[in-house]
Amino acid sequence: MPAEPGRQFLQIPGPTNVPDRILRAIDRPTIDHRGPAFGRMTRDILAGLRTIFQTDGPVIIYPASGTGAWEAALMNTLSPGERVLMVETGHFAAMWQRLAERLDLAVDYLPGDWRRGVDPSAVEARLSEDRAHDIKAVCIVHNETSTGVTSRVAEVRQAIDRAGHPALFMVDTISSLASIDYRHDAWGVDVTVAGSQKGLMLPPGLSFNAVSEKALKASEQARLPRSYWDWRDMLDANETGFFPYTPATNLLYGLKEAIDMLHEEGLDQVFARHARHGEATRGAVRAWGLELLCVDPREYSNSLTAVLMPAGHDADAFRAVVLDKFSMPLGNGLGKVQGKVFRIGHLGDFNDLMLMGTLSGIEMGLELAAVPHDKGGAQAALDFLAAGAAEDKSAREGDRSIA
Ligand SMILES: Cc1ncc(COP(=O)(O)O)c(C=O)c1O
Repeated sequence: MPAEPGRQFLQIPGPTNVPDRILRAIDRPTIDHRGPAFGRMTRDILAGLRTIFQTDGPVIIYPASGTGAWEAALMNTLSPGERVLMVETGHFAAMWQRLAERLDLAVDYLPGDWRRGVDPSAVEARLSEDRAHDIKAVCIVHNETSTGVTSRVAEVRQAIDRAGHPALFMVDTISSLASIDYRHDAWGVDVTVAGSQKGLMLPPGLSFNAVSEKALKASEQARLPRSYWDWRDMLDANETGFFPYTPATNLLYGLKEAIDMLHEEGLDQVFARHARHGEATRGAVRAWGLELLCVDPREYSNSLTAVLMPAGHDADAFRAVVLDKFSMPLGNGLGKVQGKVFRIGHLGDFNDLMLMGTLSGIEMGLELAAVPHDKGGAQAALDFLAAGAAEDKSAREGDRSIA
């Protein structure tokens, strides 16, 4: 294989680009995970994580990918045979459903067309029918990474409340946390599931459960067998800054750095940056004359965009051209939409010029792969970003003249 010049331009919707600052932080000697310096670091990290999840409650860190944290959320709160309500928003909702069934849970699965998020009124209707309160948890995916659709979590919470239903509320934020506004406490979520490799800008390998009081109470009665995933062992050890088993020391160095970076930029600015990139990307797609998979503008994802290929054109063949010619992997279509969509990641450590590189690679690829499209998508994004930058500049000058 000949060496390729430059870095691979990684534009899949996670794992995302790991900033140099985080790579440097990870690249330090491993220390004793039972020593005082480690304990201090863990306590700092746990406090910092609360600000990212927007919670005052505990956040648990597992040395596992996101799937492990899904499993932990269910195992700690539920008992064999219990019913949970899930919603078919896309590939990841389907994977969570399968995992729940393997754990011997009975899943009520509300059907969906993979182009919309969770319909709060459908959740309300199903819960209202459940007068005996057999459904013990409602589990949804905040940002469906397979479709680029963001569900309205606060509205789903209100729907559960309107139905007067006591089910736990669990939300997968694996591709939204630290990219799209998410509020564990304010939105009344009982278990939030997250992972390290997207908005947190880390390599894969850590995942999280943020846990409410109500979920902790449920865990005292829950009878699904658990050991490695047990919240109690974690929370007891975390009190003093330690873990019940060997933690991923070097990834935790990276996590500390990631939290610092997010605080330095400010979470609101992080969300605004991703919103701008989402809007610029959608503008490019429209200018190319291509179709977004997401059909409801209220649910457009700011961390990735899934684009439908014109009929008769294979998304994977197009992606292969872009990878071959420009060393840029784009996200593939997963499950039902395999070959039909490609996905553009714009989450994590990402700036205007990275977005322009991405959109330019796509526009050149569309031409090379002979995919019917209009020219000018990258130009439309460029105009949008330049206008935003000009507004920022005049706002800053306005601030200075007021000062
Ligand atoms: C929304 C969502 N949920 C769950 C997962 C599974 O996480 P992991 O692959 O880290 O186990 C992913 C992975 O991309 C995801 O995007």
